[in-house]
Amino acid sequence: MTNFNLRDVVNMEDPQLLWKQAEPFMKLMLQYESALLEMETKLKILNEEFSIQYNRNPFESIKSRVKQPLSIMDKLRRKGFPTTLESIEENLFDVAGIRIICSFIDDIYSLADLLIQQDDVKLLMKKDYIAHPKPNGYRSLHLIMEIPIFLSTGKKFIKVEVQFRTIAMDFWASLDHKLHYKKDLPNAEEISEELRQCADIITALDERMEKIRNRIEMTEE
Ligand code: GTP
Ligand code: MG
Repeated sequence: MTNFNLRDVVNMEDPQLLWKQAEPFMKLMLQYESALLEMETKLKILNEEFSIQYNRNPFESIKSRVKQPLSIMDKLRRKGFPTTLESIEENLFDVAGIRIICSFIDDIYSLADLLIQQDDVKLLMKKDYIAHPKPNGYRSLHLIMEIPIFLSTGKKFIKVEVQFRTIAMDFWASLDHKLHYKKDLPNAEEISEELRQCADIITALDERMEKIRNRIEMTEE
C-alpha cells in the first residue's frame, strides 16, 4: 500500500541514530497500515449493508494512505514536536488517513454515526467542516478515531484520520489543493474570494442533488 522508502528515514538526521530507528519506524508504519485495513473493512461492510437495505451505496470511493516519512518529519518539525517515534504516535493524528467520497451529505452523517457507534473504536475528535466550513470554503467531516489492532504483543489502539466528503466537495478540495502550491500571486485575495464563491456554488449543488434524490425516492415508495 505505502511506498515506504527506507532512505527517506535514513537521510533525514543523524544517520547512525536513524539506522537504529529504521526498523522500529517500519514496524510503526506497518501498524498504521494495519489500522487502515481494519478501518476500511468496517466502512466497506457498512457500505454493503446499506446497499442491501436502501438499494444504493452511501459512498462512491474510499482511499487510504500512510503519510510519507518525509511528510511525517516535516510536520513534526513544523509544529515543534520532537522527531521521535513516540512523538509521532502522540502528536500526529493523520499518519494513517482514509478519505471516503459519498454521494450525498446525509450519507456522510449516517456513515460517520454508524462508525462512531461501533464499540471497539474510539472517537477522539470530530471536526465538522460541513456545518462549519473553513473561511476559505473547505468542507468535509473529519474524525480522528482510534482503532484496535492485534499484534503478537497484544492489542494496541492506533489513530486514524477519517475524512468524509461528497463528490462535489472533493472536486473543490482537489482543485484548491493544486492551486495552493502556486503561492505569491499578486491577485491572491481575489483568487481566494473566487474559490470561496465556488465552494458556495458546490454546496448549493449538493443540497439540490439531495432534494432530487428525495423526490425520486418518494415517488418510488
Ligand atoms: P493539518 O492541516 O493536517 O496540519 O492538521 P489540522 O489540525 O489543521 O487539521 P484539519 O482538519 O484542518 O486538516 C486536515 C486535513 O484536511 C489536511 O491535511 C487536508 O487533507 C484537509 N484540508 C484541511 N483544510 C483544507 C483546505 O483548505 N483545502 C484542502 N484542499 N484540504 C484541506
Ligand atoms: Mg490544516
